[in-house]
Amino acid sequence: MRPTQTPKTYRVKSFGCQMNVYDGDRMAELLAEQGIAPAPEGEDADLVVLNTCHIREKAAEKVYSDIGRLRREDGSSPLIAVAGCVAQAEGEEIMARAPSVKMVVGPQAYHRLPEMIRDASEGKRVTDTDMPAETKFDALPRRRRSGPTAFLTVQEGCDKFCTYCVVPYTRGAEVSRPHADLIDEAKRLVESGAREITLLGQNVNAWTGEDAKGRAIGLDGLIRELAGIPDLARIRYTTSHPNDMTEGLIAAHGEIGKLMPFLHLPVQAGNDRVLKAMNRSHTVDSYLRILKRVRAARPDIALSGDFIVGFPGESDAEFEDTLGLVDAVGYAQCFSFKYSPRPGTPAATMDDQIPAAVMDERLQRLQAALNRDQLAFNKASLGRTCDVLVERKGKHPGQWLGKSPWLQSVHFTGEAQVGDLVRVELTEAGPNSIAARLLETAPA
Ligand code: SAH
Ligand code: SF4
Ligand code: F3S
Repeated sequence: MRPTQTPKTYRVKSFGCQMNVYDGDRMAELLAEQGIAPAPEGEDADLVVLNTCHIREKAAEKVYSDIGRLRREDGSSPLIAVAGCVAQAEGEEIMARAPSVKMVVGPQAYHRLPEMIRDASEGKRVTDTDMPAETKFDALPRRRRSGPTAFLTVQEGCDKFCTYCVVPYTRGAEVSRPHADLIDEAKRLVESGAREITLLGQNVNAWTGEDAKGRAIGLDGLIRELAGIPDLARIRYTTSHPNDMTEGLIAAHGEIGKLMPFLHLPVQAGNDRVLKAMNRSHTVDSYLRILKRVRAARPDIALSGDFIVGFPGESDAEFEDTLGLVDAVGYAQCFSFKYSPRPGTPAATMDDQIPAAVMDERLQRLQAALNRDQLAFNKASLGRTCDVLVERKGKHPGQWLGKSPWLQSVHFTGEAQVGDLVRVELTEAGPNSIAARLLETAPA
C-alpha cells in the first residue's frame, strides 16, 4: 500500500492478557465501523495493529521481530500501528527504531485510531499515549457480535505497585467503569450471542460503583445484577488481588448459581520475606486464610494462581516455601513465570538478581508440582455430572469442545451446537483436557 491510500482491510494481533484481547476486539469493531474490513485468512492486510504486552522481556522484544516480519517481498509494509502496553511504555523508542511503524497508540487512547489512520494515510507518523479523562468506552461503537463466551472489561489499571510489575505504569491508576454502562454492555453481548461473560480487570475485584438507586456496591453486587440477565448462563471474573477479596465477594461464590466455581487469585511466592520485597501487601498466611473462606463458601471451587520464581534475592529455602504453598493449596491450574527485570520498576535494580540457570531449575520444579496437581484435580472430577458450554467443533467428526464450570477443557461427541449448555458426565482425565459422555441437552 502506498502511504497516501486509506486502508481497506485490517488485522489486529493481540498479545498478553485477556484485557488486551478485549481491547483488540474493540479496536476491530471500531475499524469495521470505519468501513475497513477484516483481511481474509492468509492474505496481507493494508493495516496491521500489533496490540502488544510489556509484562516480561520476551513479550516486549517480540514486537520488533513482528514488525520485521510484516515487511513484504517487494520491500513495502502495511500501515502498522503499535498498540497496547509496549506502545504506552516505549512509544518513542518504537518510533525511533522502527520507521515502518506509522502509529503508536496506548491502551487508553485507541478510540482515537480513526483520526490517526487518516493522518497516517497522508504520510504522517502519529503517537497518542494520553490517558484522557474522557473514556474510550464512551467513544467506542456498541457491541454487536459475540461468540458464546465474551470478555467485559469492568475495571482498568492498578494502584498496587508490586515492585516487579509494569502494569501500574502502562495501564495507569485503578478506574472502575460505571455500573449502568456495564449492565448495558453485558445485555448487548447476551443479545449478540454470549452465554458466558468473564468480567475483566487488572484488579477486577477492586471494582466499585453505584447501583441504579445510588447505593455503593462492589464486584459481588455487580455480579448479582448481571446474574439477573435471563439468557446469561455463566459469570466469571479475573484477575483478582488477595487484598480486594471482600466478605461479600467470597459469600457470592456460595450464593450466586451463575457465578462459576473458579477463582484465579495470584500469590506470586510462598515466603513472607519475598512477598514483602515484592510489595504484595499480603502474607502467605493471610492468602491461605482467604482460600479457606472461599472453600467454605463453595467447597468445589477450582483454585488458580500466578507464580514468579527467581525474584531478586530469593534463596533456595525461600523457593522451597513456594513449593510448600503449592502442596498446601492443591491448585486446579496455574501460571508460573521466571522473574523478568522490567525497566523502571524497583526490582530491576535490586541486588542479588538470580542467575538464569537457577531460575530455569526452579521453574521446572514448580511446574512439575503444578502439573501434578492439575492432573490430580482433573482425575478427582471423574464421575461428576456437570454442564459444559459448547465453544467450538473438535478435530474429530461429531466432536465438540467446551468448558466445565471449573474451567476445564472438555471434549465429547454427540448432538450439539456452539452455544449450547449440555449435561455431561466426565469420564477420562488428561493433564490439559477431559473426555466426557453426553447425557442430555439442558433446556436453553
Ligand atoms: N494484577 C494481577 C496480575 C497481572 S500480571 C495480579 O496482581 O495478580 C500477570 C502475572 O504476570 C502476574 O501475576 C505475575 O505472576 C506475572 N508477572 C508480572 N510481572 C512480572 C515480571 N516482571 N516477571 C515475571 N512475571 C511477571
Ligand atoms: Fe502488577 Fe501487582 Fe498490579 Fe498485579 S497487583 S498488576 S502484579 S502491580
Ligand atoms: Fe501485558 Fe499489559 Fe496485559 S503488560 S499482561 S498486556 S496489562
